[in-house]
Amino acid sequence: MNAILSDLARTRFARLFDYAPEPMVAVAPGRVNLIGEHTDYNDGYVLPMGIERYAVVAIAPRGDDVLRAHSVGFAETVEAPLSGLRPASDSGWFGYVAGVAWALRERGEKVQAADLVVAGNVPIGAGLSSSAALEIAVARALCHVSQLEWDPVRMASIAQLAENQYVGVRCGIMDQFAAAASRLGSALMLDCRSLEAIPVPIPDSLKIVVMDTGVRRSLTASEYNDRRQSCEAAVAAVRKKHPDVRALRDVDRDRLAEMEHGMDSMCYKRAMHVVVETGRPAAFAAAVAQENPTEAGRLMNESHESLRNLYEVSSEELDVVTSAAREHAGCFGARMSGAGFGGCAVALVASDQAESFISEVQATYSAAVGLNGNFFVSQPAAGATLV
Ligand code: GLA
Repeated sequence: MNAILSDLARTRFARLFDYAPEPMVAVAPGRVNLIGEHTDYNDGYVLPMGIERYAVVAIAPRGDDVLRAHSVGFAETVEAPLSGLRPASDSGWFGYVAGVAWALRERGEKVQAADLVVAGNVPIGAGLSSSAALEIAVARALCHVSQLEWDPVRMASIAQLAENQYVGVRCGIMDQFAAAASRLGSALMLDCRSLEAIPVPIPDSLKIVVMDTGVRRSLTASEYNDRRQSCEAAVAAVRKKHPDVRALRDVDRDRLAEMEHGMDSMCYKRAMHVVVETGRPAAFAAAVAQENPTEAGRLMNESHESLRNLYEVSSEELDVVTSAAREHAGCFGARMSGAGFGGCAVALVASDQAESFISEVQATYSAAVGLNGNFFVSQPAAGATLV
């Protein structure tokens, strides 16, 4: 699949920017998060994997100070002087491209002027991190032409800086990390404080099914920032008694329960989700390693209920699709994935039943909500590479 996209970017590059040398192509995957939701910005644990949907960037250096980029999807070419990049000056897709160049310069790197063509097949607004895939593919490409070392962990945090400050979305590190550092065949359990990641191999007997509800996210940025604020308020309340606490990662369920009367009930609910959810990735990884998919699936179901009832980021469609999934005999568990409010859910399914799961549950869901769901299986895909 990414060979077709890479050829498309190369061909488009040759047609638009008619000069030698041949461009180099960088590719980075979207991601689906298996468990550990809304924990990354609380210094907790997440467990995402790269998916077989990609952003690709064809790139060649230029002799001046200009960054010029064409988007195949948006059929648009935009350019800007590298030395004139300022946060919040570019909206839309070009903001992700320019933002990465800006963030590399912020971190002291010398960025080569370049022409780029970007293309991809990660659905936009579906909760599969099309923007992080684009940022990381751009970072991989710019590192190549600028002769910078490719350090996936450092580049994930540079792309996060681009998203936080240039684009203006206060996301955590999970999506950029997954796009940069995912492993073929494994999900990654990431400690969002130390940025250490442990591969969690997905056995052949299990399939990860991405269930796109067909609902594009709305209101996400304000709701997302709202949740972050509740978490910060909960930390501030806990710190009055326990000043060593830096983030909800440092709080356990009992310590939080002691503080129930010291914070408002909404903050308490949000914090309770985070505190319990941050323990789920390790429990999930252990269950998968012990060949106990029933337990892994149970944890996914529990995570969904917590996101629905305590964190309140699910939606009717996400609830319908996950309940329909759990009705299927081959399904071990299902949950919403990503920020929430629409987008995708994910299910853990027995490999030999994945085909019937997809046809039956997709039909049940689509009939129930009157929307076309789009389900697909993805192997855990590798992080950013040059092709
Ligand atoms: C979005 C953000 C991530 C993470 C998830 C929720 O995808 O970009 O950093 O916070 O939501 O887990």
